[in-house]
Amino acid sequence: IEKNGNPAVIWLHFQECTGCSESLLRSSHPTISTLILDMISLDYHETLMVGAGHQAEKSLHDSMKENQGKYILVVEGAIPTKQNGIFCKVSGKTAMESLQEAAKGAAAIISIGTCASYGGIQSVAPNPTGAVGVRDIVKDKPVINIPGCPPNPYNFLSTVLYYLTFKKLPELDNLGRPKFAYGRKIHEHCERRPHFDAGRFAKAYGDPTHAQGYCLYKLGCKGPATSANCSVQRFNDVGAWPVSIGHPCIGCTEPDILFKTAIAEKV
Ligand code: SF4
Ligand code: SF4
Ligand code: F3S
Repeated sequence: IEKNGNPAVIWLHFQECTGCSESLLRSSHPTISTLILDMISLDYHETLMVGAGHQAEKSLHDSMKENQGKYILVVEGAIPTKQNGIFCKVSGKTAMESLQEAAKGAAAIISIGTCASYGGIQSVAPNPTGAVGVRDIVKDKPVINIPGCPPNPYNFLSTVLYYLTFKKLPELDNLGRPKFAYGRKIHEHCERRPHFDAGRFAKAYGDPTHAQGYCLYKLGCKGPATSANCSVQRFNDVGAWPVSIGHPCIGCTEPDILFKTAIAEKV
């Protein structure tokens, strides 16, 4: 509930692995404690809250009621739609029901991660549960997508801080992603790019071409078609990102064509 003027945030978890929350817990500017104690009022978050059962449900519904039209709803995880959504239930309600209920009073919705943005791994064919992203269910509210599996926590934090500071949403691309973070292709700023331009490609994991840091395109890198800032923002404040440690980008910030294909190839 809005405390000290800090806006209320309600965070719902559906079909997911909690990696997005885990990634956010490791951010350092601001830290998660600064975020939730000084900047927002995190009224409901199944991983972080102390309360459980009826107490937690009361918190959720009290916040939705008292902050009607003002709270930020964050969704982590896909929403199963087959068989009336019975594959994911919390407190006797399906994810579809909980999302629709919480979305009604939200000022804005943030889909954190590729699961909530587009359905993610759960929606890879044959998609047995009919998993979809938030935008497939909620059509009448602004929904910001922060895809990535997990997404860079700074893309989420920057979006929240932008909203708190300017009281409006950042400019989004046609997939609902903030342009400041997803406006360019990974390939544009990759440190292996000179090797790509010179035609030097790693041929196999662990061989000398891989050890010498050659471009990973022929090992399946999707960087030329993936919109994200991984090659610039990097992860965990240590400067690493998938390509820097020798793994091709699998396009985890993109919907179907790249990410799902890359995952399907591996299973
Ligand atoms: Fe986990 Fe990835 Fe889904 Fe986040 S987007 S909940 S990290 S599977
Ligand atoms: Fe582009 Fe991937 Fe090669 Fe980097 S490793 S230059 S992103 S194709
Ligand atoms: Fe994902 Fe590719 Fe970045 S796999 S984390 S978009 S480098």
